[in-house]
Amino acid sequence: ETLVKKIDCKNIDINLIREAAQLIRAGELVAFPTETVYGLGADALHREGAEKIYSAKGRPSDNPLIVHIAEFKALEKITAAVPQEAWKLAEKFWPGPLTMIFPKSSAVPKTTTGGMETVAVRMPDHPVALALIRESGGYIAAPSANTSGKPSPTLAEHVYLDLKGRVPLILDGGGVGIGIESTIIDLSEKVPTILRPGYITKKMISEIIGEVRDDPGLISEDAAVRPKAPGMKYKHYAPKADLTVINGPQKQVIKKINELSAEKLARGRKVGVIGTDESISCYQCTCAKSIGSRCDEDAIARHLYGILREFDDMEIDDIYSESFATPRIGQAIMNRLLKAAGHQVINV
Ligand code: TXA
Ligand code: MG
Repeated sequence: ETLVKKIDCKNIDINLIREAAQLIRAGELVAFPTETVYGLGADALHREGAEKIYSAKGRPSDNPLIVHIAEFKALEKITAAVPQEAWKLAEKFWPGPLTMIFPKSSAVPKTTTGGMETVAVRMPDHPVALALIRESGGYIAAPSANTSGKPSPTLAEHVYLDLKGRVPLILDGGGVGIGIESTIIDLSEKVPTILRPGYITKKMISEIIGEVRDDPGLISEDAAVRPKAPGMKYKHYAPKADLTVINGPQKQVIKKINELSAEKLARGRKVGVIGTDESISCYQCTCAKSIGSRCDEDAIARHLYGILREFDDMEIDDIYSESFATPRIGQAIMNRLLKAAGHQVINV
């Protein structure tokens, strides 16, 4: 059975952390909050622990896991080599929402890395995650704690709805701060390459280590150009409804969404709209939800997955969303939104 236990992030109950750590050490799973999204943790150095993650999530076994650490020196045991740039990035962005890829050492079982010779590592910026990692022996493999293919969980309830009966313990630390998954960077290429955009932007990284590029597989229309992070190739972050993104000047977008929703409603379909605080009153559809203010891109990122899940709960058939190409993390937000939409976009 699945227990959900509340934990106060400002006053951590170490006994509860020890109870959770005992499960991890015994090869069991524990879901826990991080600053990005909730993770589904197991001992990264324990073969069966990682195997349990794949079966609980229904995740393809060739999709590698991120190893979470709490101390810089923990990097040495699990990697075969750490380039100078990685230490610079770690110093600047860890703990934080940045994952780096390294050649792995023999301490890391292939189940953790989905059969790959490299290992993804991150030090999360969350007191519950850090305490749990420390008490569990220092290395927790954790993908996002959703059923494979669903939006990542930003609340403990999301984890419970997806994984009840498949994880013995969920630590409920309340809502996460960022709401989209970490930036992933691969430093093994000649030019360091971003495999998944996130809260730490390309610009922030290049200020520390110079030239950085996006993985061509992320943006290519050509199906032969595969993303290098195996997880980025799967249909992912997807709600049950058919989601379309409408892109263009604000007035036209609102007009188009109102037309499209009216058509669908007339055919008896349930329609949801994703707008902003500024536009929400312009939508005729009764199920219009604001993702936050267009001026607050952090709020947009934080609310995205939760809104997609709310529409699923309401059994909405069609969702129309505005586009959020905001200045800083707009690339990461749009990467997730477009994947959820299966790249269905209408330009007006
Ligand atoms: O913010 C996050 O990173 C969250 C929290 C829980 O830390 N975790 C997360 O994990 O998003 P997951 O498993 O949902 O996504 C990990 C991504 C996948 O796309 C996977 O393919 C990629 O990282 N990845 C992991 N190891 C890799 C490797 N060795 N080479 C390339 N890509 C890798
Ligand atoms: Mg995931």
